[in-house]
Amino acid sequence: MRNIVLIGFMGSGKSSVGRVLAELLNMTFVDTDAVIEANAGCSISEIFHEQNERFFRKLERDAVKRISNNSDQVIACGGGVILDPENTRNLRRNGIIIYLETDPEVIVERTKDTAERPLLDIADKELEIQKLMRKRQAKYQDAADISINTSDLSVNEVVNEVVKRIEGDANEGG
Ligand code: S3P
Repeated sequence: MRNIVLIGFMGSGKSSVGRVLAELLNMTFVDTDAVIEANAGCSISEIFHEQNERFFRKLERDAVKRISNNSDQVIACGGGVILDPENTRNLRRNGIIIYLETDPEVIVERTKDTAERPLLDIADKELEIQKLMRKRQAKYQDAADISINTSDLSVNEVVNEVVKRIEGDANEGG
């Protein structure tokens, strides 16, 4: 089966949804950030701080390329994966791309206590979230085959919606 690729902003639930979805569909769960960390032998925050974002994006591009060569996976992508069109091309070759859309207020709430998100490691988190979302919104939408607004949904509800929409997409010959 072709890959199910989850994209969306930090805190949109890609990893939580991805894990449950993979279990349900008997597919392998892959988290691009976890692959990058395992390959680099350090955390995403360390990569950002000891190198820089540009270096992280290169590791991300390499990881996405390798992961995209396999199938039967649910892939939870880092929130910035859509910044590079090469990533979207690679992911699409062998997968259906699902955008987990989430309102900024919900993202603010969900990412409140996280220390592991270097891009939000700043004083005015809320403003940064709004700024980044505005900049990325169209890219998420352009990359997606299916969009689901997850703001008012539980993880299980999102999983059910993904399954329903994928089946609908397949029946339409998509
Ligand atoms: C990023 C999102 C993070 C991680 C890195 C950069 C982004 O992943 O890849 O901190 O640019 O949005 P999550 O979306 O899983 O938090």
